[in-house]
Amino acid sequence: MNDRLRCFCEAQDLTGAAGWLTETRRRLHRHPELSFQEADTAALVAERLQAWGWQVTTGVGGHGVVGTMTLGNGRKSIALRADMDALPIQEATGKPWQSVHDGVMHACGHDGHTTILLGAAQHLAQTRRFSGTVHLVFQPAEEAGKGSGAQRMIEDGLFERFPCDAIFGLHNSPGVPTGTFGFMHGASMAASDSCRITVHGRGGHAARPHQAVDPILIAGSLVVALQSVVSRNIDPRHTAIVTIGSMHSGSAYNVIPDSATLGLSIRSFDAEVRNQLEQRIRALVTAHVAGYGGEVTIDYERGYPVVVNTGPETEFARQVAEELVGPERVISPFPPVTGSEDFAYYLEKKPGCFLRLGNGADSPMLHNPRYDFNDELLTVGAAYWTRLAERFLEPV
Ligand code: NI
Repeated sequence: MNDRLRCFCEAQDLTGAAGWLTETRRRLHRHPELSFQEADTAALVAERLQAWGWQVTTGVGGHGVVGTMTLGNGRKSIALRADMDALPIQEATGKPWQSVHDGVMHACGHDGHTTILLGAAQHLAQTRRFSGTVHLVFQPAEEAGKGSGAQRMIEDGLFERFPCDAIFGLHNSPGVPTGTFGFMHGASMAASDSCRITVHGRGGHAARPHQAVDPILIAGSLVVALQSVVSRNIDPRHTAIVTIGSMHSGSAYNVIPDSATLGLSIRSFDAEVRNQLEQRIRALVTAHVAGYGGEVTIDYERGYPVVVNTGPETEFARQVAEELVGPERVISPFPPVTGSEDFAYYLEKKPGCFLRLGNGADSPMLHNPRYDFNDELLTVGAAYWTRLAERFLEPV
């Protein structure tokens, strides 16, 4: 057996790369691109990968880029994913590398995720200590909601064209100490659905309510009734959220309007609970509005599914983190979060794990105009991806 392949990446191996990684991250930060517009980011990624000897495929599901490298005779294959898009937020960090595009910023750290994966790409290509295939998946449009980048890459044949045994992704975590890894097997991020309810009543004069069907009264009672779905229909051992985030109707004191609309955000951690929520909301709203003599239109839209990390892959990913940074810098189990991620679509098709990497205890939260990715994570993140690939593709 080749002993060289028994030697795995250590955290300090990437220390020398800190300079170019930081420079790359800040360059991406300065030039953020919104979902579906990541042309320049994708071009930078493709150019670097090519220069390091990766086989590069561009235009996968839009601006997606896949870098592939096969070494030795190992049959296994691993996919590592980074997201590339920015958000429609006006940056307020005041940093020298602040976004040059008005109203667009990397407020979720995807600039950092992309750079970390580039760091691993460079190091894996240089050290060549694996036997099998590595696919680096640079994904566009993670923030897009419906029809997001993960869905598009899968529809464009990601797993048929670049077959893998498992897929891994990471997200930085504000509020968690810098460089601390977090792992959770099973449901770790929520499914996120939305629902728009339009109550159609019959408008009229405020002084003659008996001749109208008041949509404001119906909407008001719906706000209360909807809270019974979580409290009285969902098994209390499960988590579910129904938030009514918007309510609009009417424009004058003395007029009963024709209609009222409610906007709901619905979160869950379990496919069955998710179905039950939709079914109960539809049934309750329909019957409730009918009881008041109104009519209703329900536009229920499924967003990202639950992120479900598979047991063996999560355990493997956790072990690799412990080897790299020691158990004191690994949180397991990491508490599930009620945010959502389109990485969930990959995990519906392949085993894998979506892990967290602390962005610092004092870091502003994600999607905040003051948020910035912590550059200290770049080398440890790149070392982690490198070691994960080396260990996954260790010769047997
Ligand atoms: Ni994000």
